[in-house]
Amino acid sequence: MDSREPPSLTFASVLEQLWSQLADGQRLRHSAFHQAVLATSSPRGPSARYVVLRQVDRERGVLGFHTDRRSEKWAELERDPRVALCFYGQNIQLRAEGRAVLHHDDAVADLAWKRTGLMSRRCYLAEAAPGTAAPMPTSGLPAHLSKDRPNEAESAGGRVNFAVVTVPLQRMEWLHLAFEGHRRARFSRVGFGPWRGEWLVP
Ligand SMILES: Cc1cc2nc3c(=O)[nH]c(=O)nc-3n(C[C@H](O)[C@H](O)[C@H](O)COP(=O)(O)O)c2cc1C
Repeated sequence: MDSREPPSLTFASVLEQLWSQLADGQRLRHSAFHQAVLATSSPRGPSARYVVLRQVDRERGVLGFHTDRRSEKWAELERDPRVALCFYGQNIQLRAEGRAVLHHDDAVADLAWKRTGLMSRRCYLAEAAPGTAAPMPTSGLPAHLSKDRPNEAESAGGRVNFAVVTVPLQRMEWLHLAFEGHRRARFSRVGFGPWRGEWLVP
C-alpha cells in the first residue's frame, strides 16, 4: 500500500474515539450517536429501525436501549437474539454486532425504569401494542395524555410494557470517511475478552 498512516492512528486511539462518541451519544440528545439503526431478523427477513442509545458500558463493551415488550422487535429478539447496530456521525460509521440480552422482569429493567422521565414513560402507556392496526391515525395514548405527561402514579402503569435490551458487543467495525482516503478497522473479541483489531481496506 502506498499511503502511510499518521503515527497517531492506532487500534487504541480508534477504540478511545469510538467509546467516547458512544458515551456522548448516550448523554447528549443532539449527538449523532444518540440513535442507531437496529437490525434484527424477522420471519420476513431483515428488519431495521432506529432506537435511542440508552446505555453505554465501556468496561464491559455493552450497549443498551429501551423498548416496549409488546413490540415486534421484542418477539424477533426472543426468536433470534443476534443484532446489528449502525451509527453514523462526524464522518464515522460504527457497525456493531452482538447477541441481545432481554430484560423485563429484573433489576436491570427496574433501575432503567426508575431513571426514565415521565415524558419517556408516556410511550409505554399506549393501550394497544405498538404495531396494532388502527382505524385512523392515532398516538395510541389515552386522550388526556396527548398534551401532557403522566403523573408519577399514572406512569407506573407503563412499567409492565417497559423493557431493556442490552447487547454485549462481539464485533465492531469503524469506518472513517476522509478526503485523503477512508480508513477502516474491525475489532472483535471472544466473550468479554480484550478487543483484537485489524485494519481493513475501506
Ligand atoms: C429517532 C428514533 C428513535 C427511536 N427510538 C426508539 C427506541 O429507543 N426504542 C424503541 O422501541 N423504538 C424507538 N423508535 C421507534 C422504532 O424505530 C420503531 O418504529 C418502533 O419501535 C417499532 O419497531 P418494531 O415494530 O420493529 O418493534 C425510534 C424511532 C426513531 C425515529
